[in-house]
Amino acid sequence: MVEAATANLNDVGHYEAKTLSDRFALGLVKFLRVFADLFFQKRYGHRAVVLETVAAVPGMVGGLLQHLKSLRHIRDDQGWIKELLDEAENERMHLMVFVEVSQPTIWERFLIMVTQAIFYNAYFFFYLFMPKTAHRFVGYLEEEAVVSYTHYLEEIEAGKLENVPAPQIAIDYWDLAEGATLRDVVLVVREDEARHRDTNHVFANTETKQK
Ligand SMILES: [Fe+2]
Ligand SMILES: [Fe+2]
Repeated sequence: MVEAATANLNDVGHYEAKTLSDRFALGLVKFLRVFADLFFQKRYGHRAVVLETVAAVPGMVGGLLQHLKSLRHIRDDQGWIKELLDEAENERMHLMVFVEVSQPTIWERFLIMVTQAIFYNAYFFFYLFMPKTAHRFVGYLEEEAVVSYTHYLEEIEAGKLENVPAPQIAIDYWDLAEGATLRDVVLVVREDEARHRDTNHVFANTETKQK
């Protein structure tokens, strides 16, 4: 069951890079992944906390810029703003959940602040000038998130990480059964990431068509 779910999410979800802009987005994500892997290695709980602080930024920036675009052109947003803001909120909830499982170290808190200062500003201009590539970038980022949460799941299932009870905030948010565990949480989070991946790839495709 879990294996089938894993295979599904891993195999179906990759969007093949076709244009120069796609390859740039993919290259950037693969480049950033090297640093994340070096820094976190197998500390999946800490990885989740730090990376979710980054993951919750693009939706908010995209939502803001689509909102301004809708005002500027006096044109309907086709539901994009809400979708993007929902994504940001969903990613922030991932953070609220994982911080119950793993607390960041002082050094990680410092890293979170520096990363936000750089990433928020960089992503703002990235989205402003290259929205299509920015969505493709997030699509690829979410592909990597699915891979990381799959590894997290494997460590839990192999007994290398303790399958602790799910935090109450997670049970409430996803309406999980009482007695749910960390494994259940990682499964639903991974589904969220897969949904963001697909949404962002579709948005990137739509931006292409609009042009
Ligand atoms: Fe997330
Ligand atoms: Fe994500």
